[in-house]
Amino acid sequence: MSTNQSLKPITTKRINNLSIGGCDLVKLANQYGTPLYVIDEATLRSICNDYKNAFKDYNNIKMMYASKALSNLAIASILNEEGFGFDTVSAGEIYTVYKAGVDMEKVLFNGNNKTKKEIEFALDLKVGRFSVDNFYEAELLNKIAKDKNQTVDILLRITPGIECHTHDYIQTGQIDSKFGFDLSQIDEIISLIKNEYKNLNLKGLHAHIGSQIFELQSFADEVKILVKELIRINTTHYLELNELNIGGGLGVKYTDLDTPPSVQDLANAIGGAMDEYTQKLTIYIEPGRSIISTAGVTLYTIGSSKQVPNGRKYVAIDGGMADNPRPSMYQAKYTAEVCNNKNTDLEKVTIAGRFCESGDILIEETELPKLEAGDVICVYNTGAYNYSMSSNYNRVEKPAMVLVNSGQSDIIVNRESLDDLISKEIIPNRLRK
Ligand code: LLP
Repeated sequence: MSTNQSLKPITTKRINNLSIGGCDLVKLANQYGTPLYVIDEATLRSICNDYKNAFKDYNNIKMMYASKALSNLAIASILNEEGFGFDTVSAGEIYTVYKAGVDMEKVLFNGNNKTKKEIEFALDLKVGRFSVDNFYEAELLNKIAKDKNQTVDILLRITPGIECHTHDYIQTGQIDSKFGFDLSQIDEIISLIKNEYKNLNLKGLHAHIGSQIFELQSFADEVKILVKELIRINTTHYLELNELNIGGGLGVKYTDLDTPPSVQDLANAIGGAMDEYTQKLTIYIEPGRSIISTAGVTLYTIGSSKQVPNGRKYVAIDGGMADNPRPSMYQAKYTAEVCNNKNTDLEKVTIAGRFCESGDILIEETELPKLEAGDVICVYNTGAYNYSMSSNYNRVEKPAMVLVNSGQSDIIVNRESLDDLISKEIIPNRLRK
């Protein structure tokens, strides 16, 4: 079994209370307050090893972590130590890996509307690759690089004609996507690069077919389509492009109903799609969710409850859609467990958030021991796209994040304070009394 196939961090244990990384979760909740993001270092390193082992026979495959899943200094340091490069999509993500001491050659800058300022920043820090998304950007990047007297290595982001949903996928000739060049636009952009954009050095192609993918055939099809296109480009344009970035997308297990493939299955699917020619290319993969999701849990404290007469029972937590917007945005499902030792009967409840809208429901229906105010619950698989998509909705401070390992816990992100919330704000003089 690989780590992304586990619902819980691999160190999860229950003696009396629930513990992760050798740390009692009730004690963590008391010490640091809730909501609290907890990252289990052993689980994070274990998935990194899964990736390294699964791909060890493919020297031509290089791994980058998609920062958008969770980006902060400590996480970047661990992934850097594990040998991953980084896929970034903003100056903020670039700055984070830079400050974490990452070799900028291992960084890719991707995105459909990078600003001029971000492009300048990325060029100044010498990021290794730009994934050029569209005609406007190719021209802009070339101009800025020329002004700085630099030549920049690029990939072309393309839409390969595969669209993935979680459990199935469709292949179409053309896809309505805001990202990348349509296959029919490739010859035009390559001619521009060859003839006019002399400060762009084209190395290969980049694509990403979706996220939370369980259907491995779609990755194999993607590799084949990209290789075919690369060969066509090389032949038509007399080029020797030899890099492909196939994006991220491997799924994780949010509930017992989810059965994601293992990292080894992913490696076999990608490896199986490679022929002798493909093995000579450099292939990048850039997983985000499958790297960090399982390592993360969120702790909440139970407050109020409401029994709707002849209806369901709501139990409210001290967080919700601002620290985890995925249920309200995507109807994402999560699994919760009580941390403190409770022998009460099971009860069917709805876990409601504390934010002011009816849609702020974390879990529509679950069965847990009868909960009371003060109980602490743990929600699994919140490492990816929770903190990174969190907000200050209702003017609530963002939670802290701790890293746990062998009984030790370290704060890696401080909880926001009320002063943090107003720290950027100014009352114009004319409004002051
Ligand atoms: N590479 C590219 C170019 C991407 O656009 C993405 C994700 C990844 C890699 C990483 O994909 P992953 O391995 O994490 O599936 N906020 C959504 C997910 C958005 C994913 C966007 N792109 C969610 O919470 O489900």
